[in-house]
Amino acid sequence: MLKLMLLLVIPALLAACAASNKAPRPPRFAIAIHGGAGVIDRGAPEAEKESYRQSLERALRHGRDRLAAGDSALDVAESVVRILEDDPNFNAGKGAVFTEDGRHELDASIMDGRNLACGAVAGVRTVKNPITLARLVMEKTSHVLLVSDGAEQFATAVGVERVDPTYFDTERRRRALDRVLEERKRRAEQEKSRGTVGCVALDSHGNLAAATSTGGMTGKRYGRAGDSPIIGAGTYADNRTCAVSCTGTGEEFIRHVVAFQVSALMRYAGMPVEQAARTVIFERLQPDDGGLIAVSRTGEIAMPYNSSGMFRGAADSSGLFKVSIWEE
Ligand code: GLY
Repeated sequence: MLKLMLLLVIPALLAACAASNKAPRPPRFAIAIHGGAGVIDRGAPEAEKESYRQSLERALRHGRDRLAAGDSALDVAESVVRILEDDPNFNAGKGAVFTEDGRHELDASIMDGRNLACGAVAGVRTVKNPITLARLVMEKTSHVLLVSDGAEQFATAVGVERVDPTYFDTERRRRALDRVLEERKRRAEQEKSRGTVGCVALDSHGNLAAATSTGGMTGKRYGRAGDSPIIGAGTYADNRTCAVSCTGTGEEFIRHVVAFQVSALMRYAGMPVEQAARTVIFERLQPDDGGLIAVSRTGEIAMPYNSSGMFRGAADSSGLFKVSIWEE
């Protein structure tokens, strides 16, 4: 009797296992965003902290929903960064910091992990969404980086939305510039006002993309560009490894080619994304330099930073949805 039961039950169990192995798995997607490292005090008013959280949630929800609908990582990364550029809470687009002569010079870059296609702009002054211009550099020119007047001329040629430079002004950033200039008079110090924005995404087709946009650093010199428009420093995406977007003191991120280093440690040293990202942030950079967000080709997310905090958020197809500012 027992033998007969085993004869009937075992094949049924095997068939069930085989069927469940064949059941199509829902496509995996993952997204991470940042709104800058080391920019807010834990003691800030609750309303201010809540406003940042809401801004991050709005952008993250938009990206998560578009990935769930099957949109490409590239489209999602661009559109999430556009939302963050339009949000005066962050130092990119509206709300960008002032240069030392009271203007705004915006930088952005974007990269497609499918084919290493990339585009960037630096020092633009009238382009409402620099990330979109960066994408057009990638798609409509044979170049990677256009700067200043050349980028403005290209913006006219491709017809992206333009604004009067005062559109980017905010009272808060004006006060930050006044503080920096005052401080500089007392002692020569570069202020580290940050708030760069970025997005990395893995879409349900298995493709990665990264996008980064910034106003740079408060009181920066005319013509200074940081890591955000530099492919390999502030932005990198390669379907073989990961997508990375950085935030922090741009000069250090350029010096250490941070975004590419994360990808290289994964590719050549076989590190998982978390280990690779932490190695660069904690062993190559100095404390308070900043942080990064990265998503691997299998959907793991890493968001290390060595500053006091980092505006960030992560979501994926398993139901993760979380925004944070400090360690919790
Ligand atoms: N990480 C932004 C900048 O240094 O410009």
